[in-house]
Amino acid sequence: MLPQTLFVLASALSAVTAGPVRKRCGGKPNVSSSTVLEASTPASTVVSATSASASSSASAAPITGPRLPSTGAGTQLPAASGQLQHIVVGHGIQNYTCARADSAASSSTGALAVLYDITALAPGGGGAASMSEAAWAALAGDVLHGTAIPLNIVGNALTPYAADVAAPFAAGGRDADLAMAGLAAPLKALGRHYFDAAGVPTFDLYGADQMLVAKKLNDTAAPAGADRGILDTGAVAWLRLGDNGAGGSRGGLSTVYRVYTSGGASIACTEANTTISVPYTAQYWFYS
Ligand SMILES: *[C@@H]1O[C@H](CO)[C@@H](O)[C@H](O)[C@H]1NC(C)=O
Ligand SMILES: *[C@@H]1O[C@H](CO)[C@@H](O)[C@H](O)[C@H]1NC(C)=O
Ligand SMILES: *[C@@H]1O[C@H](CO)[C@@H](O)[C@H](O)[C@H]1NC(C)=O
Ligand SMILES: *[C@@H]1O[C@H](CO)[C@@H](O)[C@H](O)[C@H]1NC(C)=O
Repeated sequence: MLPQTLFVLASALSAVTAGPVRKRCGGKPNVSSSTVLEASTPASTVVSATSASASSSASAAPITGPRLPSTGAGTQLPAASGQLQHIVVGHGIQNYTCARADSAASSSTGALAVLYDITALAPGGGGAASMSEAAWAALAGDVLHGTAIPLNIVGNALTPYAADVAAPFAAGGRDADLAMAGLAAPLKALGRHYFDAAGVPTFDLYGADQMLVAKKLNDTAAPAGADRGILDTGAVAWLRLGDNGAGGSRGGLSTVYRVYTSGGASIACTEANTTISVPYTAQYWFYS
């Protein structure tokens, strides 16, 4: 690669990571050539979105390198069992309803996000696209601060990041891939996260023909230094969710972990009977 090209890509990445709303500590991610510049090259030992959708993911070659992160303090989520199937970055909104006009009166009612395959970028994946640990840990925050929310955001006077209630996602049931400064190739849209009509957290990985209809099993607070997000409200907790046993899951998924969260925590309620939507990103790790 030409030195000028490297410089342009490196500059683009620092621009993404150095925005004024960024609250992350730790400064710029490690911008080496192995960090971000070869994302188009599929890693040999990881399942790319393409190979995952071409074959049944449950029987795809195991992904062995990447290790689920820990928050570094306090009670940790239980260790993962099963085989790692996909790592995605989710970008969307967390919803809260305000029962009263009272700062403590919000309760979580669900979330909506588009999920992009980042499996081949994981450190330890063994492939040329593998990021440094620092760039990987910063990736969700870079997506939050550097790219548009991939939903039909309409906003309203109360909550500028509200999605269109009738049609929150892109039409046609599929989402555009995500081009990002510093990445050689766009991240493939692998699926969507939403809460169904009964309020059940659901992960529809349409790109891999897999579905996880889930329930929350465990949670732990995001690290103290976590990215507080666009509204400066703080990062939502890290979670472990499992198949809810109601029979809606398919394709062999059993658990998902939400880690490296950015933003998404509730703002204080100023009006009763309202829904507030707060932008967030996170990595989701899916296991068989
Ligand atoms: C940056 O990443 C390269 C390649 O992954 C690694 O060799 C180097 O030690 C990293 N430097 C820092 C400061 O993390
Ligand atoms: C979240 O709020 C958006 C509006 O911002 C709405 O379109 C969506 O249906 C809501 N979803 C949930 C699960 O509350
Ligand atoms: C995780 O959740 C499961 C199911 O609710 C529970 O049995 C287990 O004790 C929890 N583990 C931790 C470490 O919180
Ligand atoms: C909020 O909604 C409930 C149920 O619809 C209603 O009973 C209540 O009066 C409403 N409160 C306010 C402050 O509008």
